[in-house]
Amino acid sequence: MNGLPAGRLLGKVVVVTGAARGQGAAEAEALTREGARVIATDVTDAPGCRRLDVTSDEEWAELAADLRQSYGQVHGLVNNAGITWRARIGEVRPEDFDRVHAVNVTGPLLGIQRLAPLMPPGSSIVNVGSTAALTGHYPVAYTAGKWALRGLSKAAALELGPRGIRVNIIHPGYIETEMTASAAPAFREANIRETPLGRTGTVDEITPLVVFLLSDGASFITGAEIPVDGGLTAHGGVKSLSDALRS
Ligand code: NAI
Repeated sequence: MNGLPAGRLLGKVVVVTGAARGQGAAEAEALTREGARVIATDVTDAPGCRRLDVTSDEEWAELAADLRQSYGQVHGLVNNAGITWRARIGEVRPEDFDRVHAVNVTGPLLGIQRLAPLMPPGSSIVNVGSTAALTGHYPVAYTAGKWALRGLSKAAALELGPRGIRVNIIHPGYIETEMTASAAPAFREANIRETPLGRTGTVDEITPLVVFLLSDGASFITGAEIPVDGGLTAHGGVKSLSDALRS
């Protein structure tokens, strides 16, 4: 536990996508600890997860119908599912660009379209962006998609605000999960060099923010973008200058 009072999400029904592992699994656990009724979903079969491919409008519609019948309402959605593709601009193929976009952008759009009608005032949507959404990160399909997700978050915050539904986006830095485990060691080392806190992050450093944004404690926060990145995006590339002069 993180020392904060438990039960901040008592009575809330929350859907988490990509919850079979990594950040999504940790979020589902943390939200459950806070009293939420969590519907953990993933495209892969995993214990405790309902199958949901976020790119399938049909599967979202089925989920929405089931939730309407079981609970009547949905109070939270964490659009966490995401994939990466590490091709650079000269080599990325349009079909890979589209595939990444389908999961990382169209998926969250479909989730919002299908679940927002079930959301009462006070509900909250959290989109999982990336520091790639704030920079010119080299894997271009991933970067362009995460920038698009920022736009979707802003538009949704504007559109759903009058109904009392909040929409925010968080931007994790380098978090130790299976996604980053597949990256080159040089990528991890370079991230650490560029991060003022001088280390990578863990899934347990993402979950407290997700819990907070879904809770009533964040009742006046919408349309916000919050990095959880050890300061990576705070320095605009000047960290190496500062480090050079310090030594
Ligand atoms: P991960 O690869 O460990 O987990 C992603 C999960 O999403 C997997 O369980 C996977 O099966 C699921 N998924 C993939 N395609 C799906 C689909 N079509 N429908 C439903 N589920 C699908 O990744 P991780 O690190 O936990 O990432 C979670 C989110 O955080 C992603 O949106 C990622 O882009 C983002 N992120 C991760 C960072 C990191 O350093 N790990 C940094 C910044 C953002």
